[in-house]
Amino acid sequence: MNQEINVNEYISAVSDILVKRNTKPRACVRSFGCQLNFSDGEKIKGMLVKMGCEMAEKEENADIVIYNTCAVRENAEDRVFGNLGFLKHYKEKNPEMIIGLCGCMASLEHVTRKLKNSYRFVDIVFSPSALDRLPKLLLEKLSGSRYAFDTNEYNMSSEGLYQERDSSFKASVPIMFGCNNFCTYCIVPYVRGRERSRKPENIIQEVEKLVQNGYKEIMLLGQNVNSYGKDLAESVDFPELLQRINEIDGDFVVRFMSSHPKDAGKKLIDTIINCGKIGKHLHLPVQSGSNDILDKMNRRYTVEKYLETIDYARSFIPDFSFTTDIIVGFPNESEEDFEKTLSLMKRVKYDNIYSFIYSKRSGTKAAEIEDMVSDEEKGKRMTRLLSLQREISTESYKRFIGRTMRVLVDGKSKTEGYMTGKSNEFVIVEFEGDKSLVGSFVNVKITDAKNWAVTGVII
Ligand code: SAH
Ligand code: SF4
Ligand code: F3S
Repeated sequence: MNQEINVNEYISAVSDILVKRNTKPRACVRSFGCQLNFSDGEKIKGMLVKMGCEMAEKEENADIVIYNTCAVRENAEDRVFGNLGFLKHYKEKNPEMIIGLCGCMASLEHVTRKLKNSYRFVDIVFSPSALDRLPKLLLEKLSGSRYAFDTNEYNMSSEGLYQERDSSFKASVPIMFGCNNFCTYCIVPYVRGRERSRKPENIIQEVEKLVQNGYKEIMLLGQNVNSYGKDLAESVDFPELLQRINEIDGDFVVRFMSSHPKDAGKKLIDTIINCGKIGKHLHLPVQSGSNDILDKMNRRYTVEKYLETIDYARSFIPDFSFTTDIIVGFPNESEEDFEKTLSLMKRVKYDNIYSFIYSKRSGTKAAEIEDMVSDEEKGKRMTRLLSLQREISTESYKRFIGRTMRVLVDGKSKTEGYMTGKSNEFVIVEFEGDKSLVGSFVNVKITDAKNWAVTGVII
């Protein structure tokens, strides 16, 4: 659907009602899932603030609660339904409470059906591409409607939406929305629609403004950033966009997520290596070390092709930092397939991995496969994989001992008196320091390595 609406008109209409009622509702927005969803959450907060709401940290103190959900795995869905159960109790105490659900779950028919049948206290529902409909739906609700649902798929442009950012020095900047890849296990293409790239000039302008406002880390986001630009009239690809961002004046680090290995080629690596502001790290989700499983996942690369990219980067920077995503227990993954994943991990020596047990998503192609591997076996494989990664991380982090790393300070560490931050290579660094350093770059000489971080002293 391509029906434009005037968001600002609805924002003023809601804020007029609130002013007349002499109320400043407290709103709590909770986002789940990936960074793109958190970025949407910032836009939802932005609209709520513009409508005259005050933000609340906790649901129990709020008059409006919005759950911005993720559907990538079943446990993400279960968690949201569990949380909704709690909200019901809060709503019994505060019957005026408005409860909204949006994000990827809102695109799933079985979810909206369940909400209508069994979670009737949920007032507002909108799909990710109906994000800018929130003010309109709130207006309907405040004007007396029992429900305000809009789960259509729109051709929305989120350009110009005000964003209430979670951090004052780290900013997420979506460069594209949706996914065309249809990996057989994945729900994202079904809930986020086809790929839509933002215009390069809009992205550049946003980054320039952020840097002028003191932002030190710019995280470019997309489900597959390497497809960036393919749908634009203008000829521009992701490495070119990176180069243009690298030319922006200021002291900041550029990161991006996620890269699909089928499209991450030499041009991308050359750009990372040649552009001073781009972090020397690549998150390259491999999913499995078995070509047979990769084929069944419709990933469209082989382990050999994947390793070419790794080796190419390491021909310039021998210990170039890689992280990855791995799915354990894709339907009928054999012991041999799994061992190939372990071998790949040993070969690449990832600094960190994000591993998930396969979760069946109805509607996807893999959900139709009859799976002969037990949950118990999958659990055991996950334990083996995590234990191997702990060994690899400890070993590989040792390479930083003695080096000086430039670190963007995030905040206090769990260790008393210590601060934590991320190095240019996206490695967690801990060091003695105080709160005044948050949001600035410091140089840390590394003295020790753990299995999840390195530690050192500021110089
Ligand atoms: N677009 C990104 C990933 C988005 S989802 C990419 O292609 O890299 C983040 C991760 O969740 C995926 O990389 C995958 O490892 C995991 N994931 C996706 N669907 C899953 C499923 N059905 N079960 C388990 N893990 C899944
Ligand atoms: Fe899902 Fe694959 Fe698209 Fe990533 S590339 S979002 S895993 S379909
Ligand atoms: Fe989850 Fe949607 Fe992101 S399904 S991982 S929140 S795109």
